[in-house]
Amino acid sequence: MTTPLPFDDRDGLIWLDGAFVPWREARLHVLTHGLHYGGGVFEGMRVYGGRIFRLAEHSRRLAASARELGFALPFEPAELDRAAEELVERAGIADGYVRPVAWRGSEQLSVSGAGTSVHVAVAAWEWPNVFSSAAQERGIALGTSKWRRPAPDTAPVRAKAASLYNICTLARDAAEADGYDDALLLDYRGYLAEATGANLFLVVDGALHTPLADVFLDGITRQTVIALAGEAGIAVHEGHLPPEALERAQEVFLTGTAYEVQPVRAVDGRPYEVGPVTRALADAYARLVRGAL
Ligand SMILES: Cc1ncc(COP(=O)(O)O)c(C=O)c1O
Repeated sequence: MTTPLPFDDRDGLIWLDGAFVPWREARLHVLTHGLHYGGGVFEGMRVYGGRIFRLAEHSRRLAASARELGFALPFEPAELDRAAEELVERAGIADGYVRPVAWRGSEQLSVSGAGTSVHVAVAAWEWPNVFSSAAQERGIALGTSKWRRPAPDTAPVRAKAASLYNICTLARDAAEADGYDDALLLDYRGYLAEATGANLFLVVDGALHTPLADVFLDGITRQTVIALAGEAGIAVHEGHLPPEALERAQEVFLTGTAYEVQPVRAVDGRPYEVGPVTRALADAYARLVRGAL
């Protein structure tokens, strides 16, 4: 196996605060407010055939996430759209990933965010898949985490905030140590929530059941798949699902920009088929992202 290139030592350009800079020079200082106190938000977008899927939605969500954390981006979403498109074009990326990120700077280092500048960067690289094609085909195994998605009066739950990913990293590392591919998290009330980087869907007797996105990210892929299901005449129910709902499901899948429509073959050892509804929606999603060219 070849060692992947570290992310701070690659060729190419990164868009940083309005200018394209050499990749290795896109650095920040160790005394950066966002690093110490979690004042950072980010996005993840996929490039298909050289085009960024749902670009405008992602740029708008970045701005909305920043507002949830109490800061405003110094660039309009349309400027970030243009930066991302230019990066992808200049790097000649056909199938890849785009990572915009924004954070509070280093003017002061008290817990208060007052007086900090806001910085924005966008990077892009070739990165076609999260899971192997075998895992995509036969499904991944999830284990339920001891970590829970927090209450909306405990954390800015609707923001794609870097600080919230602490829970995801802990959950994912524990799941992998236990032999699973990813973790399934409940919310603070004990309802099914999501995986560490993707939303959850159950298929019960041909209909979709998905946790109401009231305390976690209402994923752009989730919204897309709900619309695709509507077009295919598949009923969709959003609501508070207790973990026992998993006992009634025949199929389970995850959705996310990086995961796409990812079948799940087992949750805590309970097996699921990679069935017709999952396959139909995975195909419809694959057609949409490529057809949106
Ligand atoms: C925690 C979490 N939930 C859900 C999602 C799915 O969101 P989207 O479909 O917008 O990528 C992501 C990925 O961005 C995520 O990190």
